[in-house]
Amino acid sequence: SVLIVDFGSQVTQLIARRVREAGVYSEIAPFNAAEEAFHRLNPVGIILSGSPASVLDENGPGIPEVILESGRPILGICYGQQSLMHQLGGEVLAGDSGEFGRAFIEIADECALFNGLWKVGETHQVWMSHGDKVTSLAPGFRPVASSPGAPFAVIANDEKRIYAMQFHPEVVHTPDGGKLLKNFVRHVCGLAGDWTMAEFRKTKIEEIRAQVGSGRVICGLSGGVDSAVAAVLIHEAIGDQLTCVFVDHGLMRMGEADQVVSLFRGHYNIPLVHVDASTLFLKGLEGVTDPEAKRKFIGKTFIDVFEDEAKKIGGAEFLAQGTLYPDVIESVSFTGGPSVTIKSHHNVGGLPERMDMKLVEPLRELFKDEVRELGRELGLPEIFVGRHPFPGPGLAIRIPGEVSRERCDILRKADAIYLEEIRTAGLYDAIWQAFAVLLPVKTVGVMGDGRTYDNVCGLRAVTSTDGMTADIYPFDAGFLSRVATRIINEVKGINRVVYDYTSKPPGTIEWE
Ligand code: XMP
Repeated sequence: SVLIVDFGSQVTQLIARRVREAGVYSEIAPFNAAEEAFHRLNPVGIILSGSPASVLDENGPGIPEVILESGRPILGICYGQQSLMHQLGGEVLAGDSGEFGRAFIEIADECALFNGLWKVGETHQVWMSHGDKVTSLAPGFRPVASSPGAPFAVIANDEKRIYAMQFHPEVVHTPDGGKLLKNFVRHVCGLAGDWTMAEFRKTKIEEIRAQVGSGRVICGLSGGVDSAVAAVLIHEAIGDQLTCVFVDHGLMRMGEADQVVSLFRGHYNIPLVHVDASTLFLKGLEGVTDPEAKRKFIGKTFIDVFEDEAKKIGGAEFLAQGTLYPDVIESVSFTGGPSVTIKSHHNVGGLPERMDMKLVEPLRELFKDEVRELGRELGLPEIFVGRHPFPGPGLAIRIPGEVSRERCDILRKADAIYLEEIRTAGLYDAIWQAFAVLLPVKTVGVMGDGRTYDNVCGLRAVTSTDGMTADIYPFDAGFLSRVATRIINEVKGINRVVYDYTSKPPGTIEWE
């Protein structure tokens, strides 16, 4: 395994992710617990993360001596590089101006990290984010790449197998960064790269058992992939010590609520309380037109309903949540750098505090696509695992203006036709999110011999990698007219269909 020492960078988890992608098991330990983790894990190699701190600061976190003296391969990233130099006899100075964002480095010499990747004389794009910089190298180190702002952009000590870089290889803006990290763990550390999601599943199951013991756990299901994967994993670990509560707000897509119920009860036989709270939600949404007011009401009501059910069940000291890594990051990442997705929509935020329960969050280290992979590993059907993201407040924010059961039903039908056509055309997986919206606008139409005056339906489809930016999906005209015709013919209440041609930014993905 590889130990990642975390000095507080906002993107340390990305290092772990890249290492996972290289098929190597890694654990992250905060710098002040790194020594203990080193003894426990006995890692083959160590990676030192970046940090918002400065090594010039007296209180700047340091690398435990035991790691420096271990003789194992070490890779220092940004602050990790600076602290290596600081502790091994080089020099770090505060730069008069930092270097933030895209930079280009020139490869000056051979290096094990560049194996099969970068050649001497080439120039490559990397992502820098630093104020301080290394100004003289510790004994035994040589520069292997440099940029105008960082003469020691990459340094190497082959004898000790210590390598370090000023830039961040873990972020996507360093296009070859994943391969550099892979070279470190596979080529320098000599690890096999045979670690898989199946191993992750085993490790997590042991962790859950150790955390929960014989305690009882309840898990709130939203109907989405994350909470479902968390629940199935926890159930595998502790069986019927887990009870799931599915708060059905009646704002799901066509057939989804039934799908959740049959998956849990039928397929997995996981204890499930299905609360049909649609009347409560729809009643409360009457007269509400402001998007944020809708969100607030739905989030709060979800918690209320869940809390009531939890009380009825009683005796649970643990609350399970499908929190993902992007939900964990709450503040913007390191200055000027690319930031990990910041989810501003915490649908069940405040729940743990209010209920005074201990949290079980087995997906905290994972990104969405990794959760999907884990879901497949756990045997969740593809149709469920591969589903497009769906907002917690559901159809309520796809019906601008007032929401009613009737409008939800109309939208559900149109949305189902649209998605069915997308699946039939084999386009579902090429699209990040596709959905219909029902506009609070009526327009005139003519059907048969009569004049109609009915609702407008908008269609949206975007490509994206993280939901933060998005581009419209360029359907061909034939496809769109087929969908429009079907919706108008088959859905009573809609007589006009339009396609949304707005990217994000400036638009958002949802209409509210
Ligand atoms: P926007 O519309 O902000 O959406 O471009 C970005 C991503 O977030 C989803 N989204 C939400 N998810 N609760 C959620 O759980 C919400 O209130 C919410 N609003 C938007 C949206 O579907 C897209 O994937």
